[in-house]
Amino acid sequence: MENKRFYITTPIYYPSSRFHIGQAYCTVATDAMARYKRLTGCEVMFLTGTDEHGQKIENKAREAGITPQQFVDSIVTAPGGVLALWKLMNISYDRFIRTTDGYHVSAIQKIFKKIYDNGDIYKGSYKGKYCTPCESFWTESQLKDGKCPDCGREVVDAEEEAYFFRASKYADRVRDLLLNTDFLEPRSRVNEMVNNFIDCEGGLQDLCVSRTSFTWGVPVDFDPGHVVYVWLDALFNYMTALGYQNDQYDDLEKFWPADVHFLGKEIVRFHAIYWPAFLMSLNLPLPKKVYGHGWLNFNGDKMSKSKGNVVDPYLLSERYGVDALRFFLLRTFPFGSDGNFTNELLIQTINVDLANDLGNLVSRTTAMAEKYFGGALPADQREDAGLDESLISLVSGLRDRYEAQMEKFQFQNALEEIFKVIQRANKYIDENAPWALAKDMEANGARLARVLYNLLETVRVCTILLTPFMPESCGKIFDQTGADSGCQSWESAARWGALPAGVTVRKGENLFPRIDMAKELEELDRIMEEAKKAALPAVEIEPQAEETVDFDTFCKSDFRAVKVKDCQRVKKSDKLLRFTLDDGTGTDRQILSGIAKWYAPEDLMGKTLVAIVNLPPRKMMGLESCGMLISAVHTEHGEERLNLLMVDDRIPAGAKLC
Ligand code: ME8
Repeated sequence: MENKRFYITTPIYYPSSRFHIGQAYCTVATDAMARYKRLTGCEVMFLTGTDEHGQKIENKAREAGITPQQFVDSIVTAPGGVLALWKLMNISYDRFIRTTDGYHVSAIQKIFKKIYDNGDIYKGSYKGKYCTPCESFWTESQLKDGKCPDCGREVVDAEEEAYFFRASKYADRVRDLLLNTDFLEPRSRVNEMVNNFIDCEGGLQDLCVSRTSFTWGVPVDFDPGHVVYVWLDALFNYMTALGYQNDQYDDLEKFWPADVHFLGKEIVRFHAIYWPAFLMSLNLPLPKKVYGHGWLNFNGDKMSKSKGNVVDPYLLSERYGVDALRFFLLRTFPFGSDGNFTNELLIQTINVDLANDLGNLVSRTTAMAEKYFGGALPADQREDAGLDESLISLVSGLRDRYEAQMEKFQFQNALEEIFKVIQRANKYIDENAPWALAKDMEANGARLARVLYNLLETVRVCTILLTPFMPESCGKIFDQTGADSGCQSWESAARWGALPAGVTVRKGENLFPRIDMAKELEELDRIMEEAKKAALPAVEIEPQAEETVDFDTFCKSDFRAVKVKDCQRVKKSDKLLRFTLDDGTGTDRQILSGIAKWYAPEDLMGKTLVAIVNLPPRKMMGLESCGMLISAVHTEHGEERLNLLMVDDRIPAGAKLC
């Protein structure tokens, strides 16, 4: 018998800044899935929440001059915060967990102790790299160009006494799980996980699961000074929120193991490797599936606050309606792959799918029913198998085709199936030309009534299946097209003819008005530019480094005044300038510098600059760079800007700076 319970989760989000559309993407997809499962008759548990501990939050709170708890509250519960966003976006979660909730904190302490007691957590010391924004440990060899391989940002040295989880002990079982079951999807992500983290040099490494260099976390109760690593704390939310190791809830038996965890591709590693390993250590059942969706970029670029290209879900919902935004996200991008969000694409999708196809079908059908029959179709109707057959058979099989795609989380394909039918129905209007039939109501009235009935029936079935994506608009379509609650069920979506023949329609507001693309794009650019400026201070200065360097080390750096003899753009690079410099030694020195965005080469000729000259030579674009020119860096309206340090031209080339 089919499992009638369904437990689905989103990742719990870091409340470190206002949410952008990328973070809303997964939640909208999870919501559509949860609503779909409820529609099919499942008892659903949809869990979401916030991941509130860790160094990143502690640092942000310090910068803001408030406590970490005040900081997370200001993002989670305050007006305009996460809870308000999910309400605005009609997210039908059943439970919301905050990892600072008391029941979760004490459950995590018990879980940590249980794993420790069974011998899978041991004490050691950690020495390696740490990416604070991702809260991830890395070894030197895992870094990409010295930076975090996930987010590309700087990592810091981390060296501290720590507890470790024996992940290595579970390497074989996790490999088997990944390679030989459907645990991780899309399957294209499996090899990356196995090759990079399990079958890599040195094999699966034990995971550092406590920190001592900051305090904002769940304290390890048997060893003061240690806080539980934020990922162990966070992953167990999926079970503590059902009552595992706490009395707050009592649904563990009912809903665990989860049917699916939805999450973004960069955190697949935690969910597909460490999460099952933790559960194996505790002898707990594993979730049935982990699905790693793709990333939404904006205009081809990764969304990031520092680039100022984050797209604001509040703004878009307000302008186009929540349903149009939800629909756009799932209609346009295949869930398992990356997608490129552009304002053009958003407006185009609204205009084509919602205004032209769906909106037109509903408004033409209801307008004709009102015009020709005063809104109430007569029950006396005449079929015409030759003309009706292909539409009816397409609609009759729709629910099954849609279901097959939804079960695979292929939202885009499920919607494509619906829109094929909607397009077919619009064509059916043209084929049957109701306006021509209406010219002789006596002869053709019964046929006209049937044509309109067939259209209303098509709209009804499509609307049932669209409800998980656009709940509010679908309610309005049911109202307009006279489909009452008796014919809105999942079961009736597979039953052609569920709508009573003498249905009464009420043409209402235009649900999806067409947008003037050119005007709207201009307006959006203006709004986004303003929002960007308002959100960011005009000039941001890098915070001062807290780390100190001893005097002898500092003295080893050889800073010299250098004069620009020649400066050229580097071919095929829009970043680099190639300098030929007089450094006082009598031999020209070549340095490449990534400042082409801010300087024209001719403006730098003859200038006296500052270079550090005892760095090892480096190759860039096939050219050798011997040293580095010193610049001051600041951020202006979200854009990073470099300013070459120029000194008095009376200073001779080669003069040492000290
Ligand atoms: O990772 N496109 O939280 P988070 C698509 N706290 N998805 C995006 C995205 C984008 N542009 N930007 C972010 C965390 N996301 C942890 C999770 S779960 C036990 C702990 C997605 O707020 C990202 O892939 O950094 C992730 O799935 C989710 O937003 C939360 O990211």
